[in-house]
This record gives sequence, structure tokens and C-alpha cells, in this order.
Amino acid sequence: MKRSVDTSVDKPVDRSDWRSDFPILARTMNGKPLVYLDSAASAQKPQVVIDAMRDILENEYANVHRGLYALSRNLTARCEGVRALVADFIGARENEIVFTANATGAINLVARCWGAHSLKPGDEIVLSAMEHHANIVPWQMLRDSLGITLKIIPLDEQGTLDLDAYRALLCKKTRLVGVTHISNVLGTINPVSEIVRIAKSYNPDIKTLIDGSQGVVHNPVDVRGMGTDFYVFTGHKLYGPTGIGVLYGKQEVLESLPPFFGGGDMIDSVTWETTTYRESPYRFEAGTPPIVDIVGLGAAIAYIQKKGMEALVSHEKELILHARSRLDKVKGLTLYGNAPDRAGIFSFTLEGAPPADIALILDRMGIAIRAGHHCCMPLMKTLGVEGTARASLGLYSTREDIDRLIEGLEKVKSLTG
Ligand code: ALA
Repeated sequence: MKRSVDTSVDKPVDRSDWRSDFPILARTMNGKPLVYLDSAASAQKPQVVIDAMRDILENEYANVHRGLYALSRNLTARCEGVRALVADFIGARENEIVFTANATGAINLVARCWGAHSLKPGDEIVLSAMEHHANIVPWQMLRDSLGITLKIIPLDEQGTLDLDAYRALLCKKTRLVGVTHISNVLGTINPVSEIVRIAKSYNPDIKTLIDGSQGVVHNPVDVRGMGTDFYVFTGHKLYGPTGIGVLYGKQEVLESLPPFFGGGDMIDSVTWETTTYRESPYRFEAGTPPIVDIVGLGAAIAYIQKKGMEALVSHEKELILHARSRLDKVKGLTLYGNAPDRAGIFSFTLEGAPPADIALILDRMGIAIRAGHHCCMPLMKTLGVEGTARASLGLYSTREDIDRLIEGLEKVKSLTG
């Protein structure tokens, strides 16, 4: 699996045509052309995604998996086609793809269907110091109800995981290792194949869960090559709609799990006495699914595949070099995360300017960034800050966006310094 961003060689690539695929980027904000640098929170949508969803609502809509009429049959086939597309996108089989509401929903599904049924008091779960709350809180809930223990892989100075410390945390009580693929704060691309391999060679029964919310956006993913039991991501960071996420689970693991929600569409038969369930993935998809959002996710993945993930990575690599060289020259700026293998997510503080002030001043200049704890309060504590400002890139980002950010930061300094 090629997942590293080689920052050693590159020629600037002109991807300005990609930008015009995203209608919102043509608008102004506070009288200035919009510079959108909050893609790690949620990415903008290309016209093809908007059109696909609109077309369903205008021309093709019906419920799925239930109707015998053509509209329903066609849309069922289309949604199942998206399942196949998602599987192809991450190197899985179709029946290993469960549609969820988002990545949070997928992690909670694993915590409830696997964790709550498998874990015993004293069992241990290993997480990393850079996890998003979505991969912390569901496990804390189990800790509090079941008496399990959470152990945390520490970071080094660069914001990379300390793999020796990780090895030392594994023991015969370890039942799951859950790590983010790419930090939504530090931009660090974690060596997830290696992390899975270490767990499995220590004990093949340890389950692994990779939070791919940022990972799937910034590099090619091959879950089978990675060997993980679970991989989760969300649609809205991948240029698709909100309301749709994905849980990948190894077939044999999913088949061994009980359902999550009970309701329609996940059953084989129901009597007052008993209910039998469908096979996975359907047993995990109770109720009418987010039909239009599934189609939107399919359109987003088709769009990315047309551009080519390698081209996206190469474009981002060039922007990372540009951003690093410009950010490094801003006096008083501290960048959090300096991993050699990184994505275009830059968290920073600026001397004399609280992160919220940076975001508000930039907003007046039409530049959208995020400020705060980024749903990673334990990581903020490790970094010794309450929060940071964060600029994050999407496939539509340009060198000019970064130049505007730097101009904005100089303005912030002149107003607050
Ligand atoms: N998890 C999202 C972020 O990092 C919302 O901003």
C-alpha cells in the first residue's frame, strides 16, 4: 500500500481546474474571495455530488430494499452499487461495508456490538494520545460500565507515535488497539499497517480499529493489505454529504457480531416470540438508510477515482511544502506536529493572539479556518495548550490560498501584536 507522502521531490502541479468543480468556492465572504481552509472539519462538495443527490430527489426517489416497482428496484441497485464502489475504494469486499451515520456511529457500533459483548473486567484497550473524542468516549463508556482499562500510546516531540512505548503497552489483557490513521490536529500519518502488524504478531486475537476519517481523504487505503479488523470513515470529509459514514469490518468478524439497532430491514423473520437477523452487513443497518446520502457518497468517490488518488496526494504534497516554507517564516508562530510523513493539516498558535481571535480576524478577510480543541481535548493537554488555530487543505486548495492565509496571519499580528 502506498501511503507515504514523499516530500523530497516535486514539481508544482496546476490543479486550478479542480477548484472550479466546487461551486461554493466561487463565492465571496465578507467582500473577499472565499479561502476555505477547514476541510478537515468538513470538505466542500463538487457539482457532481450536488447534481447526483438532486437528481435522486427530483427523478429517482423511492424507498430501497422494499419496493417491487421499478423506482425502488433501481435505487436499491444504485445504493448497493455504492457499497461495491466503497469496497473497491478501500480494498474490501462488498459484504464488509456497513453504512452508518458517520465515523462516530461506526466506532460506537464496534464498541457496542463487539466491545460490550466481548470485554470483561480487567481487559485492556490501547488508544493513542492523538485520538479524536469519537475514538475515546465510546471506550470510556465501556470502561465505566465494564471495568476495562484504557492505555494510551504516547507521542514524541515531532507528533509521531512512540512505537516502542506501544509495544510495551501490549499484554495478555489487550483486546483492542484503536488508532487514528491521520491526526486531525497534527497531520501526522500514522504507520497503521505496522501498528496492526505489531498487535497481531503479539496476539492474533487482538482486534484493531483504525479511524480513517482523515486517512481516507489524504492517501490511498487498502484495508486488506493493512490487515485491520475495522476501519471507519465519514462521507462529509471525503467531498460527500453529511449523514453517511462507513464501517469496514473483516467478514468473519462482522459475522460474529450481534446487531446494533433493532428494527426494519435488519431481520429475517419476526414473531412475538423471537426475531432472527439478516446476514451482515444488513443486520447492522436497521431502518430506512440515508438513501440520498449514500448516492452522494458514491458520486464523491467516483469523482475522486476519476481525478486519481495519486494525483490528489501529489497535489497535496506540493502544497504541504509550500505551506511549511511559508508558515516557518511567520515570526511567533508555533506549529504543532512535525512528522516527516504528514497530511495538509496545520495546527498552530501565534504569540499574542488567541486562536479564536485569529479565526475571527481571518474570517473578516474571507478566510475560513478552525480554532479550538478540534475534538481532541486530551491531545491539547499533552501539547500544553487550550486550543490551536488550524488550517486544513482539500483537493481544491491552492498555493494562493496558502499565500492569503499568510497575509492574513501578518494582519492578525499587526492587530494583536
Ligand atoms: N473532527 C472534525 C475536525 O477535526 C470535526 O474538525
